[in-house]
Amino acid sequence: MTARPFAHLAGLGVYLPSRVVANKDFEARLETSDQWIVERTGIRERRYAGAEETVSTMAQAATATALARAGIGVEDLGALIVATATPDHPLPSTACYLQALIGARNAAAFDVAAACSGFLFGITMAEGLIATGQARHVLVVGGEKLTSITDQDDRSTAILFGDGVGAAVISAGAKDGRGILSTFIKSDGALTNLLYIPSGGTADPISERMVRERTHYMKMAGREVFKHAVLTMAEACDEALRRAGVTAEQIDLLVPHQANIRIIDSTAKHAGIPAEKVLVTVDRYGNTSAASIPMALAYAESTGRLKPGMLVLLVAFGAGFTWGSAVIRW
Ligand code: UT7
Repeated sequence: MTARPFAHLAGLGVYLPSRVVANKDFEARLETSDQWIVERTGIRERRYAGAEETVSTMAQAATATALARAGIGVEDLGALIVATATPDHPLPSTACYLQALIGARNAAAFDVAAACSGFLFGITMAEGLIATGQARHVLVVGGEKLTSITDQDDRSTAILFGDGVGAAVISAGAKDGRGILSTFIKSDGALTNLLYIPSGGTADPISERMVRERTHYMKMAGREVFKHAVLTMAEACDEALRRAGVTAEQIDLLVPHQANIRIIDSTAKHAGIPAEKVLVTVDRYGNTSAASIPMALAYAESTGRLKPGMLVLLVAFGAGFTWGSAVIRW
């Protein structure tokens, strides 16, 4: 096996649903306010997918851009990974639906279920598939239609989540100095009940009762989740830096999972990375779970914040709990 970098991020793509929902749009039907949402979360607006859109259809557009940027054809993909908590169907994987849409006939397609950390889990899988020779190019999609699992009558979650997709082509080896220098992923399954969907799986199969009791929607113990997010994202930053053999001072851009501006600020403070080196998109996209990091990376690239040669630290946290991080030379 060769040494790191096993792979580099060769191309990015994004899909933003066209409907923009502002904080004030909640004021008419929920006991909330633009001021509370901005102060407690940093969110100003988010995107909502249309009724006909699914993670795979949204991913199709993002994938086309990522492949073009990477300069490869769809038949070059040896694997296709979709990180999502909102699959098109319970069976089969959303990755297989995407595979059919784009015609990636040489790829092994599968989903990763790691909630908001899913994109980083996906990158880690991609590196492994490349290092072991299964693939030279892997598509990693982070995509969500969180509006489909969010209770729009629950003010503590309705205001947080949005829809969207980001896609990245991960290709073998280093290129022009670019490469993934480290990855780190971890979980704690003792904390599942702090953020979960009670019904609809085998533990409580689909029933009329679950719809009546609204247990097919996401339930979150916000304050507890917040505390764990701060702790685990700090650990993840330290670990990715250590594994890459770099210091926080060398990081040019921190791209954290976009759940809450207060969690982002706390993570940056722990790592000792100043605000001007921290990417924030939670104000415009809300929390898009597995899509949040690739959407943020695409935003950073399109606005000139992310340039070749930069050292980038990615860090995420999500339901499970799961957490992860990576250091990438862009
Ligand atoms: O993607 C990874 C998973 N998710 C996260 O990382 C989210 C982590 N958690 C959070 O971001 C925060 O906990 C929230 C934004 C969800 C909530 O903020 P908080 O500062 O932790 O508020 P809280 O849950 O402690 O609630 C404070 C008060 C409560 O009222 P009382 O009991 O003090 O009277 C809530 O009922 O704020 C109330 N509240 C609201 N008020 C206005 C909760 N949601 C709202 C709302 N508008 N939308």
